[in-house]
Amino acid sequence: MCGIVGFTSIQKQAAPILLDGLSKLEYRGYDSAGIAVRDGEKETEIVKAKGKLSELSQKTDEGRAVRGTCGIGHTRWATHGEPSETNAHPHSSDDGEVVGVHNGIIENYKEITERLIRHGYSFKTQTDTEVAIKLVDYYLKKYGSPAEAITRAMLRIRGSYALALMFKSCPGEIWAARKDSPLIIGVSGQDSFIASDVPAILKYTRTVYYIDNLEFAKLTPGNVTFYNIEGEEIEKESVTIEWDTEAAEKGGFEHFMLKEIHEQPTAVRDTLNSVIKDNRIDLSAAGIDDELLKEISRISIVACGSAWHVGVAAQYVIEDLARVPVRVELASEFRYRDPILEEKELVIIISQSGETADSLAALREAKGRGIRTLGIVNVVGSSIAREADNVLYTLAGPEIAVATTKAYSAQLAASYALAVALGRARGLIDDEKYAALIQDMLSIPEKIEKILSDKERIQWFASKFAGARDVFFIGRGIDYAICLEGSLKMKEISYIHSEAYAAGELKHGTISLIEDGILVIGVLTQQGLYEKTVSNLVEVKSRGAYLMGLTTYGHYAIEDTVDFNIYVPKIDEHFAASLAVVPLQLMGYYISIARGLDVDKPRNLAKSVTVE
Ligand code: M6R
Repeated sequence: MCGIVGFTSIQKQAAPILLDGLSKLEYRGYDSAGIAVRDGEKETEIVKAKGKLSELSQKTDEGRAVRGTCGIGHTRWATHGEPSETNAHPHSSDDGEVVGVHNGIIENYKEITERLIRHGYSFKTQTDTEVAIKLVDYYLKKYGSPAEAITRAMLRIRGSYALALMFKSCPGEIWAARKDSPLIIGVSGQDSFIASDVPAILKYTRTVYYIDNLEFAKLTPGNVTFYNIEGEEIEKESVTIEWDTEAAEKGGFEHFMLKEIHEQPTAVRDTLNSVIKDNRIDLSAAGIDDELLKEISRISIVACGSAWHVGVAAQYVIEDLARVPVRVELASEFRYRDPILEEKELVIIISQSGETADSLAALREAKGRGIRTLGIVNVVGSSIAREADNVLYTLAGPEIAVATTKAYSAQLAASYALAVALGRARGLIDDEKYAALIQDMLSIPEKIEKILSDKERIQWFASKFAGARDVFFIGRGIDYAICLEGSLKMKEISYIHSEAYAAGELKHGTISLIEDGILVIGVLTQQGLYEKTVSNLVEVKSRGAYLMGLTTYGHYAIEDTVDFNIYVPKIDEHFAASLAVVPLQLMGYYISIARGLDVDKPRNLAKSVTVE
């Protein structure tokens, strides 16, 4: 989704820093970009370009052509109005008094537009952002001060926003306001920054402040003042970012996605090490103890996309190991369907970014009903992390590629630890089984490393199927959960139509799509379901499908059925998703590369979906 950067300083030229910051937010997805920079008391200069950030860079001679030490920048992901230079941010009021950029969706923008038109305003774009800027301008003219104008606008606007504003009457100042869209503030010496995400400013400072919902801030060079919605000054503690810029760079890999696929052993290891101490699972950092685990009557796992797929896998693992009923829900459905929740239910929200709008709304829905919520979140200080009753952090580090890989794997690892702790606390896992499960969990990283060491075989196979039109993934139980993720990877980065089916369900309709040469990938890591899935593979083979099998070492008889096979190391079957997903991630990656696509920033997608 849109990216925001702001910078104000005494001496440094703002535009190159804004462009650099925006380049670090490219992973969020965008279709146009723009900057607004002010040189002292002079008029603000606005430059915008449709398409890649390089267009804007070229237009401004990498920022050098735009003078001034205070500015804001934006990458836009169109929601209201087509991608175009006109609709690109920044937008300004007609007299240039207020200039601003925005991330989020203003739900009542039509109603505000009509009101502003009655007050003599006109609009040049189709964006809800222009409406927000002109609303601030309207209140500024009515009440005289930026702080009053911002609070009035915040009270009037319904929806989500991260706003960065500059006022003609306040040179050198940037004002920022937030509700349900991410925004951080950084300070270093005489420089102040705002950004949608840490990588944009990490090169310049590690000291950041998280601005909360319905708060706003004034930035001057080297200083920041925070206010609540009443306009009263509030104090905030800064947070030091531990990871370094290298973690957000490609580090020798051709693409972020490939780098992040290779970082999975570390992401899983770090996540497990944070909750396994002396061969025991300790969730106390997340505020979870055995008493709490014992009293849970039911679990709802709520998430979107790949995080939802983690939920599907976790459902099998938790129900099997802890015998607690689990329901897995898409956050976009949960939030609107008046879910029936039990008093002792635990609602788990899984999210890499911690900012996904539907997941955040689902969390609030559950919390609003007094139900305990647990966030499994990667981004420290994100909205879900701050609002959930308990937080279990995944330690995947910054994930830049739009298609998630290492965060997905870290989420799986966190959910295994929770499942085993639940089963243990409820007396269903004896000492021997407990030790064995923990050992197997801890073996995941090195087993992923082994799979990665044989990636050329997958690359070769992927190159054969780069021209595929349809791909089907079939599996049962946890294998079905793996198929869901494999299929999403194929779709989102390779643009190949693909479907994941519970293997036994295919014959209830979808099998009619199978014809000569269609690739069907069977996932078979669950011993008890192995023969069943083999039968389903035979069914599609007899209708012309080309078969790829994905199973564990030892199941060599699979080669009698499939045309191509990939083996992954053996592991306790509850944890099989962590291994079997890796070849499927690599398949999606290599097919995307073979098709010449933008693998890190696939079309139409955004890394963090902060709108509904
Ligand atoms: O940040 P979140 O984990 O809440 O994001 C959820 C989905 O948007 C995300 O997993 C999406 O499906 C990925 N692009 C998949 O690779």
